Amino acid sequence: MVKIAVAKGDGIGPEIMDAVLSIFNAAKVPLEYHVVDMGKWVFDKGYSNGMTKEAQETIESLGILFKGPMETPKGKGVKSINVTARKTWNTYANKRDFLTLSGVNTVFSKAGIPIDITIVRENIEDTYGGIEHMLTPDVALCRRFITRGGSEQVIRYTFETAKKKGARRVTCGHKANIMKLTDGLFLEVFYEIAKEYPELKADDVIVDDLCMKLVSRPDLFDVVVLTNLQGDIVSDLCAGLVGGLGFAPSANIGDHISIFEAVHGTAPDIMGKNIANPTALLLSGLGMLRHLGLMSAAATIENALLYTLESGVHTGDFGEKGTASVNTTQFAEAIIANFGKQPSVGAKIATPDVAYEQKVSHLTANPLLESNSEPFDIVGADLFVQSNLQPAALAEICLKHTLGKYKLVTISNRGTQVWPTGSIYTNVVNQYRCRFESIDNIPLEKEALVALFASVSNDLHVCSLETLHAHGDKKAYSLAQGQ
Ligand code: NAI
Repeated sequence: MVKIAVAKGDGIGPEIMDAVLSIFNAAKVPLEYHVVDMGKWVFDKGYSNGMTKEAQETIESLGILFKGPMETPKGKGVKSINVTARKTWNTYANKRDFLTLSGVNTVFSKAGIPIDITIVRENIEDTYGGIEHMLTPDVALCRRFITRGGSEQVIRYTFETAKKKGARRVTCGHKANIMKLTDGLFLEVFYEIAKEYPELKADDVIVDDLCMKLVSRPDLFDVVVLTNLQGDIVSDLCAGLVGGLGFAPSANIGDHISIFEAVHGTAPDIMGKNIANPTALLLSGLGMLRHLGLMSAAATIENALLYTLESGVHTGDFGEKGTASVNTTQFAEAIIANFGKQPSVGAKIATPDVAYEQKVSHLTANPLLESNSEPFDIVGADLFVQSNLQPAALAEICLKHTLGKYKLVTISNRGTQVWPTGSIYTNVVNQYRCRFESIDNIPLEKEALVALFASVSNDLHVCSLETLHAHGDKKAYSLAQGQ
C-alpha cells in the first residue's frame, strides 16, 4: 500500500474527489488515503496558509498530495493556497498532458487531427515570485527571476519525461529575442541539457509563433517546456485544443513532494449539485498512479474512462446536446461498469508495475541548488528617479554627480533611450532610468554605489538602485532600446 495525502478541496472539490476515489476503490488500487485539512474553510478557521499543522506534516512525510481545487479568500491579502503549496514544496515542474479523447468533440477531432502534447511549465520562478513594487504612485515594477539551478531542474525533468513517453521531439518555447538575459538563460540551459539526450530532437520556438502553430498544426508538437507565465498561458491554450478545462489534468512534480490536481477551479456556480465533470481530476489521478508505478491499475481505469467517453456518456458540460447527461456519481458508476472494456481508439496497454519506494525524507536544511560561480564585478548602477523634467534637463543634473568615477551613459524611459539620442515622439512618464557606468569599466567598491546614490539624491528623488555587473568584458545587463 502506498500512503498518500488527500485534500478534497472547496466547491465541487469534495464531489469530484469522492467520485474519483470511488473509481480507485472499485479498481482495488493499493493506496491508503490520509485525508488532510486544507482549503478555504481552513483559512476561515484562522490558519493563514490554509492548512493545519497536521496537514502540512502529513503531506511532508508522505510526499504525495492528491488535491481538489481550492478557493483563495478574496480581499484578505492572503496568497493562493494552490500557488503557495506548489512553491513551498518546490514542485518545480508542472506537467500537463493533452490528448484527443474520443467522445469529446473538438475542431481537431472532427478534422481527424490527433493531439498528444505534453506541456511542462516551470512552476516556481518568473514573475510568479510576486516580487512587485510601486516605484512611484504611477509606476509599478515586477521582478522576473530565472535561475540556472531552477531551469536545470525543470528542463532535466522534461527530457526524462520525454524519454519515458517515447517522444521524439522536445521543444523549448521562449521569448529570448526580447528578454535576452532571462529567457536567454533558460534557452542556454535547455541546449546544455539537450546534449545529455542525443536520442531526442531538441529545438526551440518563439512563444508567439508556438501559439500560432499549436492552433494550426498541434500534431507537430510532442513535449514542450516553457517558463512559468508563458507555460501557464500555453497550457490553457492546449486545454482548449482537447475540449476545455474539464479534461485538463496536471501534476506538480518536485524531488520530495508532488501534487496532483485538475487545472480547473472550484466551479462555485455548480457546487453542491453533483453535476461536475470529474474527468480532469481522474486524469490527474491516473498521472499520480503512473508516478507511483501502478501501471496496470492506471491502464484499466483509463481504458474504462475512454470507453465510457466513446460510448457517449457525458456530464452536462460536454458531449452531444441531443443525449441526456448524467450526474457526477452516475458518470463514475459508468466508468466502474466499464472496467475491462477497451476503447476502439487510443487503448492503453498495461505495462508492468514499477516498484515505488515511498521516501520519507526529513530534511534538516533547505536544499541548496549549488553553484560555484564567482561573484560579478560591480561596474556601475542604474538609478531610477521620479522626475517630470525633459531628458536633456535631467541629464544636466545627473552629469553633476559623476563623482570623477562614473560616466552617464544613457537615460531611458520605460526602457527606451531618450538621452543622449532619442526621438521627440517617445512618450515619457515621470520615472526615468539613469545609467552610470564606471570610467573604462574599472571595477568599483560598494561604497562608490552608496556615494552615487547619496549624491544624486541631493537633487533628484531616487526610487530604486540596480547594480550593474560585469564578468571581464561581458556586461551582465541589457542595453536600453535604441542605445
Ligand atoms: P473555475 O475553473 O472554477 O470555473 C470556470 C467555469 O468552468 C465555470 O463555469 C465552472 O462551472 C466550469 N467548470 C470548472 N470545472 C468544471 C468541472 N469539473 N465540471 C464542469 N464544469 C466545470 O474557475 P473560476 O470560476 O475562475 O474560479 C473559481 C475558484 O477556483 C476561485 O476561487 C479560484 O481561485 C479557484 N481556482 C482554484 C484552482 C486550483 O485549486 N488549482 C485553479 C483555478 C481556480
